Amino acid sequence: MQLSIPKGFFMGAAMSGPQTEGAYKKDHRLESFWDTWSDLSISDFYNKVGSYVGNNFYEKYEEDIKLFKSLHLDSFRTSIQWTRLMDQNQKLNPEGAAFYHKVCACAKDNGIELFMNLYHFDMPAYLYARGGWENREVVEAYATYARTAFREFGKEIRYWFTFNEPIVEPDQEYRSGNWYPFIKDERRGLQVQYHIALAHSLAVREFHKAKEEGYLLDDAQIGLINAFAPPYTKENPTPEDLEALRMTDGIHNRWWLDLCTSGTLPKDVFDTLKEYHAAPEVRPGDEEILKCGRVDWLGFNYYQPTRVQAPKEKLDESGYPRFADPYIWPERRMNVYRGWEIYPKGIYDFGMKMKREYPEMKFFISENGMGVEHEDRFRNEDGEIQDDYRIEFVRDHLEWVFKAIEEGAQCVGYHYWGVIDNWSWSNAFKNRYGFIEVDLMNNYERRLKKSARWIKDLIEQRDNGED
Ligand code: FCB
Repeated sequence: MQLSIPKGFFMGAAMSGPQTEGAYKKDHRLESFWDTWSDLSISDFYNKVGSYVGNNFYEKYEEDIKLFKSLHLDSFRTSIQWTRLMDQNQKLNPEGAAFYHKVCACAKDNGIELFMNLYHFDMPAYLYARGGWENREVVEAYATYARTAFREFGKEIRYWFTFNEPIVEPDQEYRSGNWYPFIKDERRGLQVQYHIALAHSLAVREFHKAKEEGYLLDDAQIGLINAFAPPYTKENPTPEDLEALRMTDGIHNRWWLDLCTSGTLPKDVFDTLKEYHAAPEVRPGDEEILKCGRVDWLGFNYYQPTRVQAPKEKLDESGYPRFADPYIWPERRMNVYRGWEIYPKGIYDFGMKMKREYPEMKFFISENGMGVEHEDRFRNEDGEIQDDYRIEFVRDHLEWVFKAIEEGAQCVGYHYWGVIDNWSWSNAFKNRYGFIEVDLMNNYERRLKKSARWIKDLIEQRDNGED
């Protein structure tokens, strides 16, 4: 199939502040949750590479934005680091702000649209020490941070996002215990998730206030980004499998989709949580706050589908509810390096779900990408990484994106995750995602991979009007 990118469709790059900037002590940047974890236990990070370095975007942002331009990418997302923009008294740190002003100016000079996210798993350490998202004061502090950012950069940024994947911290830090502080407590996870929903809603409220007061561009938009993939179960499901599907979809997807489209959280999910005595604590006035959570559009990060089945036990070893067990689809195709299933059709299924259930809401693919270990072995004689697997991955996904659009999905763009190799949490630089390689042994030098030339040609065809 010949891929042809529609006019006006965003084709860009996705990245985040904490995974790229480095310079972790510059500009009086505060310590983050990730720095604390790196200091405490560096062996938890692949090759003992902690959160300190990123890919040196802090020094290289001009070069990187020019590279985006040279690949014909028209937009890119990054995030402001809360730890860089604000001081511990919750006032603007002018040195940190200066860096983001430079990034905004550089994007503008290169004619690239900047999408700015406010939070990408990067809690300031001093707030984490006060209980992080379990503490309502932190929710308030986030709203203050959002207000400050809207007012400081309101005339420079059109596309704003409150959170990237708000599901990940409750999951990784509190439910599955994969990330520091390795807690496995469904109830605490749900409380954290609920507080993030409040934080998001307060930030959207701040966004509207800032707009009314003339701080923002007239056409500024606010959104939320999540890994919204609809879950699948077995072919001939039992009622219990369908129940597992309902709760997985409810907690991971509908929670955010309902909040962002109607300013409410799904009642059926809360009812079930109450049966298990696992519902989050709700305070008077919260309902009003959540009503502010509606957004202009959504970002959909997609790497892999979720497949679930009825849980073997209804409670886990600590007596917390267990709503689903993973289901291994016999026909699955794997990215063996990352351990994630590759299922491009999931992107289309999401588009169709949006069309059916939330027809007013537009979205873009805000992350999609393929992480591969030891890419060195794919170098040709000229030293260029021949990442044909990545080209195939992106092509397969784009085909399903365009099919969904043809069938009425309101998908308005595609951002590839990790256009430039970056630091990926506890996996550090293990899996490389980029169209552009970063040489860690050679001053973070950037080098194009084969996929970079491929994406450039693809977008160029559109830009030259060759439909
Ligand atoms: C997503 C995250 C992003 C990156 C990719 C690989 O879940 O949003 O920060 O680490 O996974």
